[in-house]
Amino acid sequence: VSPIKAAASAKNMRFGTAFFTGDTYLDNAYLGLMQEHCNVAVSENEHKWGDIRRNPPPEYRWQNGDTLVLWAQQNMIDYRFHVLLWEVEERYPDWFASYNWGTNEAAEAERLLTDHIETVARRSPSDFYSWDVVNEAVDNTSGAYRETPFSRRLGGMENVVELAFRTARAELPTAQLVYNDFMSWNSWSENHRTGVLRLLENMLAKGVPIDALGLQSHVWGPRSGGEEATWRAFLKEVTDMGLELTITELDIEDQQLSADIETRDQEIADTTKAYLEACFEFDQLRDVLCWGLVHRYSWLQTFQQRADGLQKRGLPFADDYRPTLMAEAILET
Ligand code: G3I
Repeated sequence: VSPIKAAASAKNMRFGTAFFTGDTYLDNAYLGLMQEHCNVAVSENEHKWGDIRRNPPPEYRWQNGDTLVLWAQQNMIDYRFHVLLWEVEERYPDWFASYNWGTNEAAEAERLLTDHIETVARRSPSDFYSWDVVNEAVDNTSGAYRETPFSRRLGGMENVVELAFRTARAELPTAQLVYNDFMSWNSWSENHRTGVLRLLENMLAKGVPIDALGLQSHVWGPRSGGEEATWRAFLKEVTDMGLELTITELDIEDQQLSADIETRDQEIADTTKAYLEACFEFDQLRDVLCWGLVHRYSWLQTFQQRADGLQKRGLPFADDYRPTLMAEAILET
């Protein structure tokens, strides 16, 4: 396939991928694919609390994130930041369990969160154009707000989200500030979409500076056919609020697709094309990032296994770095 980034640029869009300091950064052929096809990159894990804040305060660890960002800069690849706050309890570093919150727990929670956002924002290159500020504040199945160490101390999730975005905006006046969630047209539930809409509506009503909804886009195959209309209606509601869209983590979960590789690759490509076409109806969408480029490094390999134990194939390049039909589908769309 010809460079996907060129096709994207021609539409004033970006195409890119996540990469990480383990396997992908050590794989020159993987980096070669990024140089050929990507004009934006994101760290899969290296900017999370689990890495930057792996150890208790006051330590910040910058090395892993810096390694990736430097490589992208040297290759003139834009960067987006993932993620200032992941509102899922299991994603908090272990030291939270024994953290001393002092006598005023709310004040300490506010200090800890704002210190993190200010420190990371001030330390980061000014050309990070897009930031995942909060990730997954809404429960996938119930659509309710999640409970986390911050939400319990700050009077609920809406207060956490508001504080995070206002702090981020003060530091990053011109960057695109993104609320990112596990959205696609079939992952997860109607409740989840309703919960996300409620959060966005309530935040915008209070003037909280959210610029975009990040559609993670871990898309499940096969399609039932019914998801397209629901998805368009959802994206219309989001964009009618004045929000931009960004596809932050595209891949296809193929555990329910065919075993035969040729058939499965076609199913994956068809799903990709249909999904992207529905999303591209909205001009507010400018970026498509895959959550990895090559099958063997994908988080999906360990997330759940196929019943037949075969490797999953929901990314645009095979393990020999040749494009799959999914790459062609992305390019065509
Ligand atoms: O780096 C350690 C290594 O030192 C250790 O030996 C090893 C043993 O388990 O773990 C390594 O860390 C793992 C890390 O990936 C790097 O491989 C973590 O355990 C593992 O939890 C982590 O998983 C990541 C997950 O987020 C949790 O942070 C996945 O790679 C990453 O793809 C996934 O990405 C998320 C997005 O951030 C948000 N949206 C959903 C998406 C998929 O779950």
